[in-house]
Amino acid sequence: MDDLIATLPKAELHLHIEGTLEPELAFQLADKNGISLPFASVDAMRAAYDFQDLQSFLDLYYASISVVCTEEDFHELTLAYLKKAASQNVRHTEIFFDPQSHLPREIPFETMLSGITSALKRGETELGISSRLILCFLRHLSAESAQETLQLALPFRDQIIGVGLDSSELGHPPSKFVNVFEEARRHGFRVVCHAGEEGPPEYITEALDLLHAERIDHGVRCMEDPALVERLAAEQIPLTVCPLSNVRLCVFKEMSEHPLKRMLEAGLLVTVNSDDPPYFGGYVNENFTAVQQALNLSRSELIQLARNSFTASFLSEPEKQKLL
Ligand code: ADE
Ligand code: ZN
Repeated sequence: MDDLIATLPKAELHLHIEGTLEPELAFQLADKNGISLPFASVDAMRAAYDFQDLQSFLDLYYASISVVCTEEDFHELTLAYLKKAASQNVRHTEIFFDPQSHLPREIPFETMLSGITSALKRGETELGISSRLILCFLRHLSAESAQETLQLALPFRDQIIGVGLDSSELGHPPSKFVNVFEEARRHGFRVVCHAGEEGPPEYITEALDLLHAERIDHGVRCMEDPALVERLAAEQIPLTVCPLSNVRLCVFKEMSEHPLKRMLEAGLLVTVNSDDPPYFGGYVNENFTAVQQALNLSRSELIQLARNSFTASFLSEPEKQKLL
């Protein structure tokens, strides 16, 4: 099964570039930029990846990214992820970035964007991996802050395919961001939204009906609402599921309790993704292996998951056909 997982062509649709920072690179950048990390060593940093919930992870995620400062740093971070993804036969990736985690550190929007997009171009030419970029608003911040961030992105509309919503879910429903998503759609941005990770199934419905999300990131808590499952299956709304993330953030106690197999059986368009790989113990292939073993997925279910990843992508139909 591991051979099949390794050789299957895959697309990754739920990946935060800030969440790909490996401790080794964090220490290297901290040293270069004269920034101190609250850990004595790479091993101590890795040992701190022991989370009780989403917030305990986010606290560490935002603190760690402080070492990524220059255009070259963003380039190096992105290229390191692309190399890893290409080595796992990821052929296409749609990457989230969080401008609001960098703007307060006085990093210009153009600096982060240039660093990321120049690496994405190298990914295409040197590694054969195609990509798109999705700007995520931080939902624990205000709707006004999201609006300001959208304004910064407008001059770069052609380099960003869509907008999403991430960070602390509970208490920050999609309804808080109706206006900014409406404006983003007017400018032609595609829409995705984290919903139903820690938040209730109602947040998934809000993401669909109020933000007009085309894809739901996580969405695993839909399984608590049979009518919602029926709707998601009927409309074939993609759900970008991140199994290792869900277990490491205690959404499910053990992988054997993960609903991925039941989601497939319910006819949902689910995909497997890594979210923030070093923090959660693996890139996309390790996520496939973990669910295959815990849920006894068949070869045809693995193939279906890989096919779904291209179907659910923002590639054009001819681009999908070429990669499938
Ligand atoms: N930002 C990075 N990873 C996230 C996740 N799993 N949920 C919400 N926001 C995030
Ligand atoms: Zn995520």
